Amino acid sequence: MARFPKNFLWGGATSAAQIEGGRCQDGKGLSHLDYVYYRGPKAPCNFMLKRDLEKAKAEEATLNFPNRRGIDFFHHYKEDIALLAEMGFRSFRMSISWTRLFPTGLEETPDPEGVRFYHDVFAELHRYGIEPLVTMIHYEMPIGFVEKYDGWVSPEIIPHCYRYLKFLIDEYKDEVKYWLTFNEINMVCAVPYLGGGIVLDRYDGEFEIPRGFKPFAPLPPDMAKRWNNASHQALHHQFIASAMIVKYAHETAPQCLVGNMFNLHHMYPETPSPQDALRAHEEHEFNRFFCDVMAKGSYPAWIRSWYRKNGVEIQWYDGYEEILAQGKVDFISLSYYLSSIVTADPERQERVGSFIRTLHNPYLETSDFGWQIDPTALRISLNDLRDRYGLPIYIVENGIGAFEEPGEDGKIHDGYRISYLRSHIEAIADAIEDGVDVIGYTPWGCIDLVSCSLVSMSKRYGFVYVDADDQGNGTYDRSRKDSFYWYKKVIASNGEDLD
Ligand code: BG6
Repeated sequence: MARFPKNFLWGGATSAAQIEGGRCQDGKGLSHLDYVYYRGPKAPCNFMLKRDLEKAKAEEATLNFPNRRGIDFFHHYKEDIALLAEMGFRSFRMSISWTRLFPTGLEETPDPEGVRFYHDVFAELHRYGIEPLVTMIHYEMPIGFVEKYDGWVSPEIIPHCYRYLKFLIDEYKDEVKYWLTFNEINMVCAVPYLGGGIVLDRYDGEFEIPRGFKPFAPLPPDMAKRWNNASHQALHHQFIASAMIVKYAHETAPQCLVGNMFNLHHMYPETPSPQDALRAHEEHEFNRFFCDVMAKGSYPAWIRSWYRKNGVEIQWYDGYEEILAQGKVDFISLSYYLSSIVTADPERQERVGSFIRTLHNPYLETSDFGWQIDPTALRISLNDLRDRYGLPIYIVENGIGAFEEPGEDGKIHDGYRISYLRSHIEAIADAIEDGVDVIGYTPWGCIDLVSCSLVSMSKRYGFVYVDADDQGNGTYDRSRKDSFYWYKKVIASNGEDLD
């Protein structure tokens, strides 16, 4: 019996900020990620404090902003889509850039050149029978909103966002069937600038940034308070905007399906101790909460209690319960890269904002970047999601980032990528056999692109290599890696031939 359904949506995933470039073309405005600057090949960049943003603005002419270049998909999209078609893609995940359509976010009508660009991209995809899967907001907002509204913290951003989202449905509903509202909506709580345009220390005197502070270090209490309050407030507003557009799409474009998108994190207890098991359970509930609100249409009791215990204060949006209940998503989508383990030992357990630091699992291998490779956790989680929501599931990100240089023959031999993807595709096939309704699989960065955490080109995920370095040097020529030919075979055999 075939392991994957006949119309399974094999493909790959990208985002506008990480591929498009073409920033100065046709009036595109600047987004908050356009101000994230490169700090070295392994240095996380997306945690922006006030001093970082000030530096980015003051030294705009000299700093390196890789997201402004992307891989120049803006000028290469025909060639890139032809390569994806050659692999047999049935689905291509991309996002629309808010600032290409509404450069400052305040305009009443969109920029016609930007509007046309996406029509052209969709037409090119359809020419090859590739179904676009569009993320409405993939880590992007007009830079002006960072200062004007404290990112997503102020509810005043919602009408501007809704105007943009509504335009997307009105304009593209006949070209795009599958939509996602916010990429990895839970990330606003882990990396507040990235997910919500929040500059944590924007209000003077609220707290001191500790000397030598590094993102992902334990937080002083006053800083943790601002972090939790701001990020969960921003999240609340994103839930509202998302539910509003789901409702609008259901009413005006019934041919469209709208999904959520969250970063799936599977947590094992470090030991069989009941206390470790409880910690793992709490982390599990925390991870699923982001999905609960969007799929079930209400805040679960568990998170309300977590808010009380952690002193999180939310200004609830007027009528929010009804808005959420009316905007439940049609399918679940997720990114999955790694699993982690947690302990109840307070000496070794650290919380960073709302998120837990993970410990090393001795049973798992890790990628070049320390991410623990665990296909079994994906299978376990898919089963859990089936039971919890009973909705179709689209796996819209998965993959392995690696440093890669062409070998002596000028080619990239990425056997480790083939082996990572093979094991995850096996796990998905097993989950389907378990009874999970998985409708598609779009591995991340199907063509090399700018890394999100490192804003570098040197962390690569693609089947297609792009000749560009972290400084923007290179020909930007595209070439096929070994995994390109392997994935082509996988798709042609509908997941049967994984050798
Ligand atoms: C997800 C994001 O978190 O992971 C992508 O949705 C991102 O935008 C991907 O690129 C991989 O992360 P990174 O930091 O390796 O690029």
